[in-house]
Amino acid sequence: MNNFTRRDFVKAAAISTAAISTFNILGAQTAGGINTSKIKVGLIGCGGRGKGAAAQFLQACKILGIDVEIVAVADAFPDRVQGALNQFKLDASKGHAGYEAYRKVTESDAEFVIMATPPNFRPQHLEACVEAGQHCFVEKPVAVDPVGARKVIALGELAKAKGLTIVAGTQRRYEANYQMTKAKIDAGAIGEIVGGVISWNGQVPWISSRKDGQSDAHYLTRNWLNFTELSGDHIVEQHVHQLDVANWYIGRTPVSFNGMGGRARRETGNQFDFFSVDIDYGDGVHIHSQCRQIAGCYNRVGESFRGSEGQITGTKVKGKDVSVPTIKLAASGMIQEHVELIKSARGSGTPLNCAQAVAEATLCAIGGRISAYTGQLVRWVDMVSNQNSPFYAMQLTPNPIDFERGTVVMPVEAPSTPGKEIKFRDR
Ligand SMILES: NC(=O)c1ccc[n+]([C@@H]2O[C@H](COP(=O)([O-])OP(=O)(O)OC[C@H]3O[C@@H](n4cnc5c(N)ncnc54)[C@H](O)[C@@H]3O)[C@@H](O)[C@H]2O)c1
Repeated sequence: MNNFTRRDFVKAAAISTAAISTFNILGAQTAGGINTSKIKVGLIGCGGRGKGAAAQFLQACKILGIDVEIVAVADAFPDRVQGALNQFKLDASKGHAGYEAYRKVTESDAEFVIMATPPNFRPQHLEACVEAGQHCFVEKPVAVDPVGARKVIALGELAKAKGLTIVAGTQRRYEANYQMTKAKIDAGAIGEIVGGVISWNGQVPWISSRKDGQSDAHYLTRNWLNFTELSGDHIVEQHVHQLDVANWYIGRTPVSFNGMGGRARRETGNQFDFFSVDIDYGDGVHIHSQCRQIAGCYNRVGESFRGSEGQITGTKVKGKDVSVPTIKLAASGMIQEHVELIKSARGSGTPLNCAQAVAEATLCAIGGRISAYTGQLVRWVDMVSNQNSPFYAMQLTPNPIDFERGTVVMPVEAPSTPGKEIKFRDR
């Protein structure tokens, strides 16, 4: 299908519940309910994960027996674009560089778009893709502040109305062992979840120190992993995975976040080194969230939960014997997520829209971060509905528009000071 007819189809999907099967009629062939006409895919963000996700998308197409072509790749920097062109043996005309280059992907005839830039850009890029009628793979996290996360939830609703699929890179949801654990929880294996500990303790993955002649925008984008305005801090960028599992297993979002943290050794940027957050899910359920990026310390990445009648450590369930069907998936999570994306978009399987779930996991991390940075209790409603809260309208700058317009002002390269507005009496 060319771009024009595909977008016509997407428009039709908004007004017809029968549209998904209509797509099969429009498509060249069908196999097992899947439209197997050639897929065109685009990529925004050609770094490690972007190229990795694109390669995994190609593998998913192979599993499904569908031809695929990468039609456009975009990145802020020409060297990253070249890396993707080289890896996928693409013609130079398919590569686009610059902060506006994502528009070349949304204007292309890509049916699917993979988004893997730093997360501060995700709401802007997702909006452009949904407006263009493209099915989306969004890497986690999907925002760095409450305004961005709410925008992603709203875009998820718009995508639903347009019949578009959105799958997120919270890949544990596409791992058979996690799915089996969830099925056992739902079948009552550990009773009600009453508490748990989730952690991502490791080290700073990398830094990109400032080079001579680098503009503020260039430096920030290269060293994005160490600036809250671009990454959300590591509680958002990495630990979002465990927060997503907690929301998924418990089956609801938290009530409040009481966090603390600090910075001991980080060399660049303005983030904390460690966070410890008491997450209150209501009804007496508390999850301790712990994350640290300090080399040479004890490392642990994972989730454990205590239930009223058992416990879960990792994906090992100790509790009542429950019978749940064995789940076997075609591939590991980071490929399976693309298999499910394509099956959903091509009219076979359950239509998927993960925007809300990934935005909620992102908001949990943002809530923990705001609490630790400010030293205040942050309630869920303060981020999603209470417009009187100072956290509701929180939007970090520089924002994506600043990068596009060249109005980036360098944030302070120092961490926040919790409770700094509180003055003590001098005795
Ligand atoms: N699901 C997972 O397990 C997993 C693993 C690693 C990374 N990630 C996520 O993937 C995303 C990318 O991470 P990465 O490790 O590939 O980082 P990276 O730095 O290797 O790649 C990011 C790329 O985005 C480009 N970019 C920055 N701003 C841009 C813009 N406005 N427009 C276009 N391109 C832009 C950068 O130049 C860079 O090439 C992050 O959100 C990260 O959290 C997910």
